[in-house]
Amino acid sequence: MLKFRFASISIVVLLATAPLVYQSCTYDVQVPSICFQEDVLPIFVSKCAQSGCHNGGRKSEGYNLTTYEGIMKGVKAGKPFSSACYTQISSGSMPPSRSVQLTQVEKSTIKAWIKSGAENTSNCNTCDSTYTYAARIQPLMDKWCVGCHSTNNPGGSYDLSNYNGVVKSVTNARLLGSIKQQSGYSAMPQGTSPISDCDIIAVTKWINAGHPNN
Ligand code: HEC
Repeated sequence: MLKFRFASISIVVLLATAPLVYQSCTYDVQVPSICFQEDVLPIFVSKCAQSGCHNGGRKSEGYNLTTYEGIMKGVKAGKPFSSACYTQISSGSMPPSRSVQLTQVEKSTIKAWIKSGAENTSNCNTCDSTYTYAARIQPLMDKWCVGCHSTNNPGGSYDLSNYNGVVKSVTNARLLGSIKQQSGYSAMPQGTSPISDCDIIAVTKWINAGHPNN
């Protein structure tokens, strides 16, 4: 990974690193249209805001990464390499190695979002009404939940990284109540606003169809 120290940048360094910058750009994963609420926020919530991390508590180090305002404290719009929220990730400093790491697509998503102006956009996509497990439900879990519900770190003893684990949360009748953030359930995703209505509808339809592994 590239390391940039803007404080020590000189023309020489700029010239020397220019080809590397170009190279790193060519290896970025292409991410089409990026929506803050649907694409960027879930990465920070799931991968950075576990309890004891950047969730607004005592150990957040000034970064509450569960809201747009909190994330923007580490973002310079248009400038990913001057944004702590990106450089910490791209350099491999964050998340700590014991935590679930960001995928290349997630890193590229954050970078592209910052580059394009870091706006607080929501409801950018039309509702995707499919609800097959492989195409819709597991990707939703991967995006919003597995950072805190992985095999190695199953929050509340729910591992949502695979079909059996997700089904356990359904058969225990905990999944819907928690994502609808109803009283009597722990509100999920923990520490932030609910996932979109469209996502909740997809999960509901999948459960009503008998939660098939399709
Ligand atoms: C920031 C971390 C975090 C994220 C993100 C997160 N969870 Fe959780 N979740 C936890 C922790 C910790 C617990 C156990 C403590 C509790 O119940 O509050 C838990 C508990 C649960 C429970 C049991 C709740 C209950 O009332 O019995 C369910 C179901 C659940 N999570 C589902 C999800 C789903 C689905 C998502 C994604 C949409 C998600 N979680 C995202 C941390 C998280």
